[in-house]
This record gives sequence, C-alpha cells and structure tokens, in this order.
Amino acid sequence: MTHSLTMPRPDDWHLHLRDGAVLHGVLPETARHFARAIIMPNLVPPVVTLADATAYHARIMAALPKGTTFEPLMVLYLTEGTDPADVAAAAASGLVKAVKLYPAGATTNSNSGVRDFDKVRPVLEKMAEIGLPLCVHGEVTAPEVDIFDREAVFIDSVLDPLRRATPGLRVVMEHITTMQGVAYARSAGDDLAATITTHHLILNRNHILAGGIKPHYYCLPVAKRETHRLALRAAATSGEARFFLGTDSAPHVDALKEHACGCAGCFTATNTMALLAHVFEEEGALDKLEHFAARNGPGFYRLPVNEATITLTKGEPAKWPDKILTEAGPVTVFNPGFPVHWHVDC
Ligand code: DOR
Ligand code: ZN
Repeated sequence: MTHSLTMPRPDDWHLHLRDGAVLHGVLPETARHFARAIIMPNLVPPVVTLADATAYHARIMAALPKGTTFEPLMVLYLTEGTDPADVAAAAASGLVKAVKLYPAGATTNSNSGVRDFDKVRPVLEKMAEIGLPLCVHGEVTAPEVDIFDREAVFIDSVLDPLRRATPGLRVVMEHITTMQGVAYARSAGDDLAATITTHHLILNRNHILAGGIKPHYYCLPVAKRETHRLALRAAATSGEARFFLGTDSAPHVDALKEHACGCAGCFTATNTMALLAHVFEEEGALDKLEHFAARNGPGFYRLPVNEATITLTKGEPAKWPDKILTEAGPVTVFNPGFPVHWHVDC
C-alpha cells in the first residue's frame, strides 16, 4: 500500500477567488498547495477587459500572504461587446490565459454573458487564430430544459455547432458532470479538454437531496445521478491528457448558502488535494493523480509543469477547519461525509 506520494506542485484550472474580504480570506487556502490557478472573472461587475484583468491581478497579488508564491492566471469574461483587439492584446500581455463563456443566466453573476452567439463570432475567430482557449460553462438556460439535462443539451445544441463554426478554437469544457460530457471531450483532438471538480467525483444528486437538503453540496452544474459520477471518476483517473483538475472552488458566505434561495458553489480549496488522494486511492489510480492535478493542465495551456513538489502522506484522520472565517462572514469548507487519511506536506 502506498503511504506517501511526491508529485509536481498542482495547479487549479478553475477557481473563484472573489474580491475584497472574501478574496483575503480564501486566497491562502489555495496558495498553500497550488502553484497557479485559472481565476474566474464572474465578479460584480465582471472582469471584461485587459484593464479589468490587470487591476484584479494586482488586487490578488496584494492579498497574497507574505512569503507565498502563487501565480493567478487571468481570464476575461466574454460579453456581446467584447472587442477582439482587446482580447488579442490581453493574450499578448501574457497575463490573460483564457476567455470565459457564460451563457447568460446560467449561474452566479452570468447576466452579462452571451445570449446571441453570432455577436461573439469575431472574438472566437480571433481566439482560434491566436490559440487562446475558451473556457465554457456548458449549460443551456432555457426554462423548459430540466436542470439535470442542461449539460447534455448544451453539448448538442450549442457547443458542437459552435466548435464546428470556429475551426481551430481551443475549448475547455469546464466542470463536466455527465457521461455525455466525458464522451464529447473524448470525441475530438487536442483542441478540446475538460476540467473535473473534486466535489463531482464525490457527490451524486442523492447526496444533495436525500435525507434533508444540503445547501453546501449545491453547485452548478448540479451533481447528477451515480452513473455520471462513476464516468467522471473513470475519466479523471484515466491519466488521459484531455482531463484535468479545475476545482470550481466557489466561496459564498454561509448566510448566502443557508438561505431560501441559496447560492451555488462548493468551497473545496482547503481540502481538495487530500480528497483527491482519497478518491484516486479508492480507484487504484494514485499514480494518475499527478497527471490529473499537475501535468495535463499545463500541457493543454502550453505552460511548464511546476518544478516545485508537494508530498501527500497517509496517516491519522485528516482534520481541517469546518469554516474559513472571512471579514464578510464564515465560508463552510466542503465536508465529504467520510473520513480522509491523506495529508499534504508542502
Ligand atoms: O457552483 C457554481 N458556483 N457554479 C458556477 O458556475 C459559478 C460558481 C460561483 O461563482 O459561485
Ligand atoms: Zn466556476
């Protein structure tokens, strides 16, 4: 049995840090274990231009605890007014590594997202030309589509037509939650990849709804039935280059989660690496963890694998705080509901 595992320092290819008090509270949780992260731009107002991303990057760097090294990889929020020239300048600056597509209304702060895909065609064509990845929140928002079907319908009705209309566009299917997502990610060449969250490897929809509603397990896309969770586990632990970690760690203060209209998001920054070691060990695939969390993401984003390492060791039951206390209020740390014995030594 493996009790210790040393691997390159991981990166998080999908992270929400927010701003202000929450940013200050949650940033150390990611910076403790991760070298880099793709920073989601769904602030209020969103991070739309290179100037917005430059200013947000500076706020993140100012919030980093002294002595920590962490590189935020910035992302622009695609709107119907996004200027292709600004996107090209953002990519050329080296600060911005992707553009994020939110279908309008799909999730938290997505109201400035895209309604009419024809309006963003010039931006997508510019991105295809310069090789800048498009990170896609893959859910339709039509009210008649059942929430558990929104990802599969999006793939057929939006993503596949969009990719066919924009040859060469490099796409990351963010936080896939279905076997259809896994199959579609496998259906193309190396211009298509998919991130998988830690919590979607652990939760199915029963965990959210059976025996009382669990607001801290509610996220978007919502966890699906067990067959889908198993397909995600097989994909994540396969070692295939197209699948990599994007935690979608998404802090909301407890008052907004434990609410009549609770916000979507699971906060996993604190314990993701321990949880992943547990999951990969269960799947007999500990040797694949470094591919999922440290090698495949840099491969897709054309960045070097981190030279620094972390070591995971198995021992006593792991402990982490129930909540991270921010000046905006407490944020509950994801509780997997089972004991975990893995620890991270940096
Ligand atoms: O659960 C989620 N939370 N899914 C998203 O797509 C957005 C995120 C957030 O920003 O809170
Ligand atoms: Zn997200």
